[in-house]
Amino acid sequence: MISDIIKKGINGVPNIPGDKSISHRSIIIPSVSNGICEVNNILKSDDVLHTLNAFKAMGVDIQEYKEKIIIHGRGLNSLKKSNSKIYLGNSGTSARLLTGLLSSQNFKSVLTGDNSLSSRPMKRIADPLIKMNAKIYTTNGSLPLTIESSELKPTKINLKIPSAQIKSGLLLAALNIKGETHIIENKITRDHTEIMLESFGANIEIQKSNDKKIIKIFGKKELVPNNIDVPNDLSSSAFFIVSALINDNSNIKLKNINNNPTRNGIILALKKMGAKIKLYNNRKNNDENICDIEVVSSKLNGCELGPEFADLMIDEYPILAIAASFADSPSVFRGLKELRVKESDRLNLILVNLQNCGVNCKSEDDNLFIYPSKNYQLKNNFIKTDFDHRIAMSFCVMGTKIGPLNIQDATSINTSFPTFKNELNNLGGKIS
Ligand code: S3P
Repeated sequence: MISDIIKKGINGVPNIPGDKSISHRSIIIPSVSNGICEVNNILKSDDVLHTLNAFKAMGVDIQEYKEKIIIHGRGLNSLKKSNSKIYLGNSGTSARLLTGLLSSQNFKSVLTGDNSLSSRPMKRIADPLIKMNAKIYTTNGSLPLTIESSELKPTKINLKIPSAQIKSGLLLAALNIKGETHIIENKITRDHTEIMLESFGANIEIQKSNDKKIIKIFGKKELVPNNIDVPNDLSSSAFFIVSALINDNSNIKLKNINNNPTRNGIILALKKMGAKIKLYNNRKNNDENICDIEVVSSKLNGCELGPEFADLMIDEYPILAIAASFADSPSVFRGLKELRVKESDRLNLILVNLQNCGVNCKSEDDNLFIYPSKNYQLKNNFIKTDFDHRIAMSFCVMGTKIGPLNIQDATSINTSFPTFKNELNNLGGKIS
């Protein structure tokens, strides 16, 4: 895929698809609820379709329409053993959440994935579940992973790694455990699972003090069905926000965007850099914060972000690094260790690809330093993505500013945003 330069700016109202994290949860939770749930504006990307197909394979009746699905849940113990291994493609969220949910079911499951997913750490979810008496066997700490039937015990788990995927996997396991499971989080992670479980009537109690959160969940209570309108994805919006900021003569509006305070680090960071971003029409739907966003071309300054920002925007560093490359002063982003275990080693790919584009940058102790300049000379027109959708989309945005970029394995973009290329082209981008 080649991403090319834009002269007239980025203008218009892109169609941003439904939020990926909420879409996964909008399949998983209704599938074990007790009744019919209608889910609107669900993201139909490869990652989410893997979750959808997994539940169909486990016997859940799901009717599919264009952007709507209807799920006929039959309760916490209604899932059936899949006839074959459950293939989850590139989707870490599906893998971690399903490992949790399936560890407290009374049948055996085997989870597999593509090369990238099969190299990602799964002990981080398997180990706390094993503490809860689950029987999980990984392959050298990764997928393929086998879950044997076992009766889980209510346990207190203190989470050492900040990860919504781990927390959510444990919460889903706890739904089917008799007694009170405690999950203690020491850092903020996205809270879509807790929000949705509360709205489905789960017996859940949350205590917060600063960044620490204790979640108590009393299992074996059947979930009541609920309809869900999935809001549009802020992480997907970020590619358009940065395109508009760094290209002159740009003005875009984004509608119905999820603005959950556990996910809004990218907005806070860009505003700190002087970005002209207006959030308006703030409202709530399904207990999630929603807003519309307007962005215009802006003169950006560099900034220093501490590790606390990583908790609020872990997926947005690749696109933030592109914004920082066009700022008037250097930036430092600290505490990016978790970026190394995403769909790729994102910290390494940000560095290698920015350096190929002529940007002076370095990493030290998982901190990223970017020293922007006005003119970039391409060193090597080959953007390595290791099949990582967010690296591919970020460098498409880089291409809108510095000229044609040759992006490897750009089909990975289908994992989260199948219409990305059309949407960016409609606004003035030139991607072929
Ligand atoms: C996600 C959580 C994050 C994020 C991922 C989606 C989720 O991962 O990077 O893209 O939907 O729970 P971690 O929780 O492992 O940081």
